[in-house]
Amino acid sequence: MDNSIKIKIWLLNQLNGDEKGDKWGHRWRGTQKIRYEETIEFVKKNIDVNKKYDILDIGCSHGDFTKVIVETFKNSNIFATDISENAIKSAKKYVGKGDYEISELPNLPFRGKKFDLIFAIEVLYYLEEKDRLKSFENIYNKLNKGGYFVFSSVIDDGGGRYFDENDAIEKIKKYFKILDIGYVRTKGAVKFEQFFMRFILYYNILQNIDVYKSKKYSNGLKSIIVKLLSNKIVNLFIKILIYPFYKVSELIISSKTIMKIIKNMTIICCEKKVRGNILIIGRKISD
Ligand SMILES: C[S@@+](CC[C@H](N)C(=O)[O-])C[C@H]1O[C@@H](n2cnc3c(N)ncnc32)[C@H](O)[C@@H]1O
Repeated sequence: MDNSIKIKIWLLNQLNGDEKGDKWGHRWRGTQKIRYEETIEFVKKNIDVNKKYDILDIGCSHGDFTKVIVETFKNSNIFATDISENAIKSAKKYVGKGDYEISELPNLPFRGKKFDLIFAIEVLYYLEEKDRLKSFENIYNKLNKGGYFVFSSVIDDGGGRYFDENDAIEKIKKYFKILDIGYVRTKGAVKFEQFFMRFILYYNILQNIDVYKSKKYSNGLKSIIVKLLSNKIVNLFIKILIYPFYKVSELIISSKTIMKIIKNMTIICCEKKVRGNILIIGRKISD
């Protein structure tokens, strides 16, 4: 199967969330709340949030960051887009304000309309190289003269999945005057969070064992484990054992305070190493 189709199938599954938001946990994870806070502080340093703008949020998922935009730019009109109907429906309900349309980058929604500010927060790295370039060009064309572009990406650490810092800067420089570059320094906190994430994962597997039971496994050990966990008594016994770890993990991961403490401690020890995401703000200075 083509890689871009695989990514799309995975994304659509991530967007099948519930009242707790999407499957990334943008709504409840402490690290994500910190990322939003730092992103919007960075924006506030560079843009007058009290003015009236037409703002587009690309890759809005269930609307968690869109809501932050709405609460920050109180006098502006908000527009948002994502690839799935499910995400759009959830975002509309959660944010309660704005216009929403399904679209898939490099294409942009709201035909014929131009914007004063476009956000592409943690979205462009899902695209292949040629579509990343086309997206920057289309975003540029979709902005009014003097408009702003706010970009963010996880910083690639060699795996090639995300944006390399310099590569992102060079690509954005091709179209925009770069006004500022910033960082979200939660890499240490995200690593810390991952330790606890495993208990949530294990508990969810036990809860949804029927889904796993219906799959075919080429790995013999995996299929034996799934068979064993499908036994009602074994399943219940392990669930009871794991439950306290699951609950404590949920509390730790959802705590912004704990994640902030970890973030601040890791910044003191190794500031450069804990830069997890790059933030870039560019401006369209000519047509
Ligand atoms: C990691 S989430 C980020 C959500 C939100 N911007 C945030 O920062 O919390 C990435 C979002 O981008 C969307 N996305 C991925 N590829 C896309 C594409 N080609 N066109 C539009 N949206 C896309 C996904 O569906 C998902 O909602």
